[in-house]
Amino acid sequence: MELNTIESHDIGIAAEPSAGTGPTAKKVFVKTYGCQMNVYDSQRMTDALAADGYVATDAVEDADLVLLNTCHIREKAAEKVYSELGRIRDMKAERAEAGRELLIGVAGCVAQAEGAEIIRRSPAVDLVIGPQTYHRLPDVLARVRGGKKVVETEYAIEDKFEHLPQPKRAELAKRGVTAFLTVQEGCDKFCTFCVVPYTRGSEVSRPVAQIVAEAERLAEAGVREVTLLGQNVNAWHGLGENGEEWGLGRLLFRLAEIPGLARLRYTTSHPRDMDEELIAAHRDLPALMPYLHLPVQSGSDRILKAMNRRHTARDYLALIERIRAARTDIAMSGDFIVGFPGETDADFEATLELVREVNYASAFSFKYSPRPGTPGAEMDGHVAEAVKDERLQRLQGLLLKQQQDFGLSLVGKTIDTLIEKPGRQAGQKVGRSPWLQPVIVDDKAGGIGDIIDVRITRTGYNSLFAELV
Ligand code: SAH
Ligand code: SF4
Ligand code: F3S
Repeated sequence: MELNTIESHDIGIAAEPSAGTGPTAKKVFVKTYGCQMNVYDSQRMTDALAADGYVATDAVEDADLVLLNTCHIREKAAEKVYSELGRIRDMKAERAEAGRELLIGVAGCVAQAEGAEIIRRSPAVDLVIGPQTYHRLPDVLARVRGGKKVVETEYAIEDKFEHLPQPKRAELAKRGVTAFLTVQEGCDKFCTFCVVPYTRGSEVSRPVAQIVAEAERLAEAGVREVTLLGQNVNAWHGLGENGEEWGLGRLLFRLAEIPGLARLRYTTSHPRDMDEELIAAHRDLPALMPYLHLPVQSGSDRILKAMNRRHTARDYLALIERIRAARTDIAMSGDFIVGFPGETDADFEATLELVREVNYASAFSFKYSPRPGTPGAEMDGHVAEAVKDERLQRLQGLLLKQQQDFGLSLVGKTIDTLIEKPGRQAGQKVGRSPWLQPVIVDDKAGGIGDIIDVRITRTGYNSLFAELV
C-alpha cells in the first residue's frame, strides 16, 4: 500500500468500457475522486446508464456525457473538480462548433455540498446530482436533453439501492476478482472536521437480504474477495434474514457461507463501534482478512475531544490490544490529521507516541483542511501552514518506516495470495496479500482468482516479490 500524501484518497478511475452495443451508442466517461464508496457508486451509475443506452468509455474525447464523481473531504479535492470542469468546458465549446453535443454532469459529495452553486460557477455544467439520488440519473438526463439544467440534491425517500439496476454477469466478470459492496450510507458521528455527515446524510444500513443477493451475484461472476463499505461501516446494523437486527460481525459470518467468496474485508471503521461480535469474527472467521483500517486522527486526548471523536488515546490502544489478542497477525492501518485547530507541539508529540505504540502496517495522513459549515472551521487556534507541513512530514516519515518494516517482516514467510491480474512485465502476475499489499509472482503461479501459497523473497517500494512454494 502506498503511504498517503495529501490527496491519496483521490483516485481517478475511468469506468471500464462495456461491450455489445453498436458504434452509434452514446458514450459516458466517468471520472472518480475520493473514497472507495465513490468507486462503487461510479460503477452503479455506469450500470444505471447502461440500462439507459450508454456505453462506458475510458477516452474522454469519445464521450457524449462526462460525469465527475467528486469528493469534498479536503479543499484540494474540491478545487480539483473546478479545474477539471474548466478543461471539459473547453472541450464542450469545441464540440458545439462542430455541431455535436457534450453533456457535463457533476455527482458525488461536491454536488451534494454545493448544488446549484456549481452551475453558477461553471455554467457549462448541465446536471448536478447528489449521492442519494443516482437511481434517478436516467430521468435527470431525460430532463437535461429536454433543454433544462437539473440540480437533484434532495435526499430521496426511496432506497436508491432497490432502484439501481444490477449489472449483467458478463459485465461484473470483467471487473475483476475483487469487489466493493456498499452496505451503509451516511454518517451520524459529526466529527468536527468532517463534511461527510452533510454530504452523505444520516446513517442508513442496507438489509441483509439485499447485501447477500448482491454478494451472491458477485461470487457467481467470479469475485473472490469482497470489501464491505461504509463511512462508518462497523456501525452497520441491518434487518437480518430472521427478522432480527444484525450487527456487522454476524453479517460477515453469513457472507462467508457464500460459495466462492474466500476473502472478506470491511472499511472504514470507527473505534467506538468495534463490538465483541466483530472482534470475535476476527478470531473465528478465517475468511475475514487480518487487516483493519481503524482511523484515530490524533493521539492527544484534548484534540480527540475537540474533534468530537468521543474516545481517548488509551481507549484506542486498549481496543487494539483486544483485537490483537483475538487475531495475533492482524495488521493495523489508520488515518491521521495534523494541525487541527489548537494542536500544540505537545499534542502532535502525543500522536507520534501513539503511532510508535501501535506500529502501523499502513496509514493515511493529512493536513487539516477547514471545511465550510463544519464546527472545526469556526474554531480558534488555526495552525500555520508551515507548521502543518513540518508535522505532516515527520509523521509520514515515521509511518513510512513502519510500513517498510512491516513488509520486511514478511520476507522468508509463506503467505496466501489472491492472484488478481497480469503483471506489468511479461512472465509476472500480481496478487494481493492478506494485508492488501500487491504481490508480484511468477506467471505460472496460478490462474486469476486462485488463492495460492507463495514465499516472500523481497520487498519493493510498496509491493512484495514472491516465489512459488
Ligand atoms: N469515516 C472515516 C473517515 C472518512 S474521511 C472515519 O471516521 O474514520 C477519510 C479521512 O480523511 C479521515 O479519516 C480523516 O483522516 C481525513 N479527513 C476528513 N476530513 C478532513 C479535513 N477536514 N481535513 C483533513 N483531513 C480530513
Ligand atoms: Fe467523518 Fe467522523 Fe463520520 Fe468518519 S466518523 S465520516 S470522520 S464524521
Ligand atoms: Fe470524499 Fe464523499 Fe468519500 S467527501 S471521502 S467522496 S464520502
